[in-house]
Amino acid sequence: MKIDVISIFPEYLSPLKLSLLGKAQSSGLLEIEVHDLRALSTDNHNTVDDTPYGGGAGMVMLPEVWGKTLDPLMSENTDLIILTPAGRRFTQKTAEEFSTANHLVFACGRYEGIDDRVRQYYSTQEFKNRNIRVHEISIGDYVLGGGEVASMVMIEAITRLIPGVLGNPESLSEESHKFEGYLEYPNFTKPQEWRGISVPEILLSGNHAEIAKWRSQQAEKRAKDNL
Ligand code: ADE
Repeated sequence: MKIDVISIFPEYLSPLKLSLLGKAQSSGLLEIEVHDLRALSTDNHNTVDDTPYGGGAGMVMLPEVWGKTLDPLMSENTDLIILTPAGRRFTQKTAEEFSTANHLVFACGRYEGIDDRVRQYYSTQEFKNRNIRVHEISIGDYVLGGGEVASMVMIEAITRLIPGVLGNPESLSEESHKFEGYLEYPNFTKPQEWRGISVPEILLSGNHAEIAKWRSQQAEKRAKDNL
């Protein structure tokens, strides 16, 4: 999978080089490229924003600098993801959908967001014919300073579903949100007693059927308690 991320703060995205994502890039499973939006700004001040038509607080990102940056990245079969608190909510299901994508482009807006004509332009039939889709996505009902952290959340959730990215692929099959309303059971490791708290007896029993039943009850209880 190829991933491009566009931001005015490319250094903000440096954690993408670490850990499992770093390994997946070295092994060629994944290619991640971060682009500086200001590199293609058109004036001496590297301006990327201006005041909103119609008035109101804050600044809006200029369409032309986004257009210049996005045009060369819009290859056949691409999903353009515009991060915005007004977007469709990102879930495990969305992560699964994007995990089979060919090419993801993340547009990280700042301030009051990106001029809406950028979304409109890349949503036209011309781009649909080239298998290019535009998505506006929010990672939750809160407002961040920009899309950078949101794109990293999405990239981590999506790429760990690509075969070969995770060290232990079995961790995928059992985990949280696999089933609607079902959260993960609590886990324990050594020592058997820590600060006076013991590991639940059942987990030491070796009875796999009973352990599976207990875990499923615990998972259900967690899901209820979190409602
Ligand atoms: N930009 C600002 N807030 C955001 C959010 N909640 N999700 C995605 N992008 C954002």
